[in-house]
Amino acid sequence: MRLLTGKPGWSTSADVIVIGSGVAGLTTALNLRSYGLSVLLVTKARIDEGSTKWAQGGIAAALGPGDTPDQHKKDTLAAGAGLCDIKAVDVLVSEGPEAVRKLIAQGAVFDKSETGEIALTREGGHLRNRILHAGGDATGAEVSRALLAAVRGDTGIEIIEHALAIDALKSISGEVCGVTLHVIGAGSRDGVGRALAKAVVVATGGLGQVYSQTTNPAVSTGDGVALALRAGAKVADVEFVQFHPTVLWRDLANRGQQPLISEAVRGEGAVLLNNKNEQFMVGKHPQADLAPRDVVAIEIFNQMQISGQPYVWLDATNISDFTNRFPTIYASCIANGIDPTKERIPVAPASHYASGGVLVDLDGQSSVPGLYICGESACTGAHGANRLASNSLLEGLVFGARIAAKLAKELPKQGEPVEAGNSVLLDPKILLPLQISMSEGAGVLRSQTSLKKTRQTLQELSKLTSTEPRIEAWEASNLHLLATAIVKSALTRTESRGSHRRSDYPQSSDQWLSRIVQQVDADGNWKSDVEAIK
Ligand code: FAD
Ligand code: SIN
Repeated sequence: MRLLTGKPGWSTSADVIVIGSGVAGLTTALNLRSYGLSVLLVTKARIDEGSTKWAQGGIAAALGPGDTPDQHKKDTLAAGAGLCDIKAVDVLVSEGPEAVRKLIAQGAVFDKSETGEIALTREGGHLRNRILHAGGDATGAEVSRALLAAVRGDTGIEIIEHALAIDALKSISGEVCGVTLHVIGAGSRDGVGRALAKAVVVATGGLGQVYSQTTNPAVSTGDGVALALRAGAKVADVEFVQFHPTVLWRDLANRGQQPLISEAVRGEGAVLLNNKNEQFMVGKHPQADLAPRDVVAIEIFNQMQISGQPYVWLDATNISDFTNRFPTIYASCIANGIDPTKERIPVAPASHYASGGVLVDLDGQSSVPGLYICGESACTGAHGANRLASNSLLEGLVFGARIAAKLAKELPKQGEPVEAGNSVLLDPKILLPLQISMSEGAGVLRSQTSLKKTRQTLQELSKLTSTEPRIEAWEASNLHLLATAIVKSALTRTESRGSHRRSDYPQSSDQWLSRIVQQVDADGNWKSDVEAIK
């Protein structure tokens, strides 16, 4: 299967193609260069676009006095609600501190305490202060700045901006040997082209745009996960879409990216209140307001249902240096008419992070030879049913380095692409009804009835095909494929676990200590397996 495109009008090549310029793509590209491999880095908008630059809270790593990777592991496993792959968690927490030190050596500057040590804060699910942050609440912008400076300084990395990867190219023996791209460029590289490589690394980030309200930027349309599915790769854990509990509530009419109020604000003392001014998280979990994200999100959702009010309150007026500690959040609150130093902030959950994605091994290798996945697009198993706060930037750093090391050891031979089979394309006008239906039926709380209704809508929307290849149509088609995968898995998992909550199955069940793995064949038929956790 592939998306409908025009005929490729140009071609290029490199040892490895990296798709995406967030923390995962940039880290992979830099590490590939350290082994002398040539890299083509393609990214669908400006190079600094993506979730990475929006990251607020920070990066988790066991760097503080008395902290250990083992304690970080315990918190990661607890948040993951029984579905983490222990080996992947071990890799994340044990290689994490070194990966962060390397990032600092590459030029990233983190905030310091009064004594000159790196300042560490706390977020939901962490039993220790282990979150490094930069610019107060602008960690992602600093990580992105430092990595981009290093990438731009390396002439062995060719960068093509405004280059949207559409589909994988495969050889007769089924290995991925390149991608089709659409470039909005000038000169010889404009329109649809082909880039060949010995391996392709997908680092296209998340799929937050599958819902009406999200913290994710507009580029987060799950393109790489959809590309991998169409190439025959397995995806796993896709029902576990994490909803961030505290997103600034403005109006349901506001769709797309919404301003985040970092969990670190609660880490510094802010508390959640319901419309009766009660601190409703107290007694609900031993960590109260700093319980793992799924627990807080569902409690907020319950409070909203009780009160009929589409938000709860976050009271941060007790944080004395709010403007310095959280300058980005302060600015976005003020821009929305709220002074968080004087008044409570209305907040509600919104889609935030895909804990699942393309199933990979500990070296980022997918089930399709030649196709590697890094960052939020991947399912390494490190997050299980719910990612621990600030483990995502870390995952990009750790697994980006591992993918490069693996490719340096075992770079496949360049394959010759063969023509792919059937093509599909949906009309971009499906986007709004798709997002509304996903938010209503497959959001924070789901049930068989709500999921089936959404499935029905998705089936109807799949009839709205298009014959006009363009960016909006490719993105809408990708979101439709991923929405279908999410709904299928969510219907299959008849229990509540992590960020997948079912009103008709409110409890977790030991029978479900397994992962739902899905694949699509060349005719568009889905295959679903339930695999035991390793
Ligand atoms: P991204 O950074 O999203 O990069 C994806 C890249 O792929 C982009 O360059 C995009 O343009 C490109 N792309 C997408 N599709 C295509 C295509 N078809 N062709 C070519 N290029 C494509 N995590 C933490 O650990 N700590 C935090 O404090 C934190 N705060 C967050 C705050 C916000 C508001 C958000 C949205 C997320 C936050 N996260 C945080 C999550 C974290 O930022 C992301 O999971 C992480 O940055 C993902 O990195 P990535 O490289 O996988 O993807
Ligand atoms: C936040 O700052 O609350 C987001 C952190 C994360 O997604 O890990």
